[in-house]
Amino acid sequence: MCGITAYKGKGDASFVVMEALKKLEYRGYDSWGIASLGAEGIIETVKNVGKISSHTETGLRQSSVAIGHTRWATHGGVSERNTHPHFDCGNEIAVIHNGIIENFDELRRELGGRGHEFRSETDTEVIAHLIEEFSSLGLKEAVRKAMERVKGRSAVIAIKKGYDGFVAARTGSPLIVGIGENEYFVSSDIPAFLDHTKNVMYLDDDEMVVVEKKPVFYSLKSGGLVEKRLITIDWSADQAEKGEFEHFMIKEIMEQKDTILRAINQNDSEIQKIANEINSSFGTFFTGCGTAGKVCFTGQYIFSKIANKHVNYVNSSEFPNYEHFLRPETLLITVSQSGETADVLEAVKTAKKKGVKIISLVNVKGSTLDRQSDHTFLINAGPEKAVASTKATTAQLAILYLLAYATTGKIHEGKNLLLETASKVNDMLNPRYLARIEELAKIICKKSDIYIIGRGLNYPMALESAIKVQEVSYIHGHGFAGGELKHGPLALIEKGTPCIVLTAKDDVFPQIIGNAMEVKARGGYIIGIGPEKHGVFDYWIKTPDVREASPIVNIIPVQLLAYYLGVLRGCEIDYPRNLAKSVTVQ
Ligand code: G6P
Repeated sequence: MCGITAYKGKGDASFVVMEALKKLEYRGYDSWGIASLGAEGIIETVKNVGKISSHTETGLRQSSVAIGHTRWATHGGVSERNTHPHFDCGNEIAVIHNGIIENFDELRRELGGRGHEFRSETDTEVIAHLIEEFSSLGLKEAVRKAMERVKGRSAVIAIKKGYDGFVAARTGSPLIVGIGENEYFVSSDIPAFLDHTKNVMYLDDDEMVVVEKKPVFYSLKSGGLVEKRLITIDWSADQAEKGEFEHFMIKEIMEQKDTILRAINQNDSEIQKIANEINSSFGTFFTGCGTAGKVCFTGQYIFSKIANKHVNYVNSSEFPNYEHFLRPETLLITVSQSGETADVLEAVKTAKKKGVKIISLVNVKGSTLDRQSDHTFLINAGPEKAVASTKATTAQLAILYLLAYATTGKIHEGKNLLLETASKVNDMLNPRYLARIEELAKIICKKSDIYIIGRGLNYPMALESAIKVQEVSYIHGHGFAGGELKHGPLALIEKGTPCIVLTAKDDVFPQIIGNAMEVKARGGYIIGIGPEKHGVFDYWIKTPDVREASPIVNIIPVQLLAYYLGVLRGCEIDYPRNLAKSVTVQ
């Protein structure tokens, strides 16, 4: 996690970097720091614990080169001492880093033995000292040699006293180069420089870029030159801003009026082609993390229900344990908003070793996952900034429906269902609807636990609902399959404990209502979500009847509820404590 960025150009470098860090804050917001190359080639630094958003000045002098970091702590607590940039012994080399150095203990002992003095508890600092050891070779070669010693996934940017530029290297964590007019950017993500340019070049793993005059790319392994393709991004800077909304989360929830439609605007023949491959594969696996993982789990039910077909859902961090079941005829379908989640990329690596074909559903065009996949379906949701995923979720679900219908040769039936769903979501997201959910949030916002149950297609969405409640409101949310309640969780129900019941007009409706009754009989406060009102509900939130597509419409009121709960409890809606949007460490 962590966001890193660098700039060289005609602007006030440290200010440009500060503004870029504000756009990267979703990646980490424990502390931030900037180093710039002052007029005499001297490095000046500013470091602060806390978020960068309230800062308007860096306090650094005007310069043309600067690097900056916004931190999500891994090694070493949150303190000014551990805030990046980190330096070598002579304070001549400044380094920022996103990732984890797996052999950092060993390197730290080795460097300490040679007299290097460490001033932080971070793993990053070893890079600065390694670069120092090779510094007589020039910054480019010194960074290259240093990165040869470092194990794990990383992205690193370094500057050096007296050197008019910067060097960046990637061994697993994202780095994108923005090409402006006589100004250049390097960053963990595109929104950092979208105000300045839409032209980008992606660094791949084991590559580095030297920005002195123009960016020049090299292989980290051989040191030889590498050619890169210029890609133009079609996101606008506005899309990555909050606009009239108070938080990105509510903006992104409301965007679902359009994003489901945009998601299904896929090339039908591509969908059909992949569906045919699913039909002929030796096992299809779906994998993702967090919310995207719950989308994959829903996929398992979608394929079962619509296509009468078994597909396997495996959480990405567990995927390597399934290696033995993979063959060249197996298909891996990955789902990831960012396309940068480390565990997903590791799953891809595991699958590729076995010759497995990779199909991905990704929001960020050009992301690592996009580039590593044999085929990508872009979900077209536009930038998603809030840590809690909302619009990406429903867009990903919509594409899984299309694929499932296509495996039965009925892609048009699927498209019609999704068109109907999109139009009903549009109707649903009106001010009265929002007010009704806010009213519910007021009733339950002081509770310490919320349980969510579902069955069939809505069981994975019960798990996703729990994630939403936890991350946005910090209330303990817990999702279960309705039938599992009496095997343990029922013991936790007390008088007034809220229990959300996700329902649809389907064959499991009587059973889930039966489960709701069991909770009610123990004093639970029943919140029904679904198309049909029932006497067991203490509070009912209506969702449209869209038959098999019920997970799409049922998760939206839960997203809204989590949002209002978070607002009422004074939580950091878009940047929940301890979390980051793009989890680039395993
Ligand atoms: C983090 C985010 C989640 C997201 C998950 C996977 O935990 O907070 O919203 O679902 O990572 O991210 P991805 O980018 O792969 O979808």
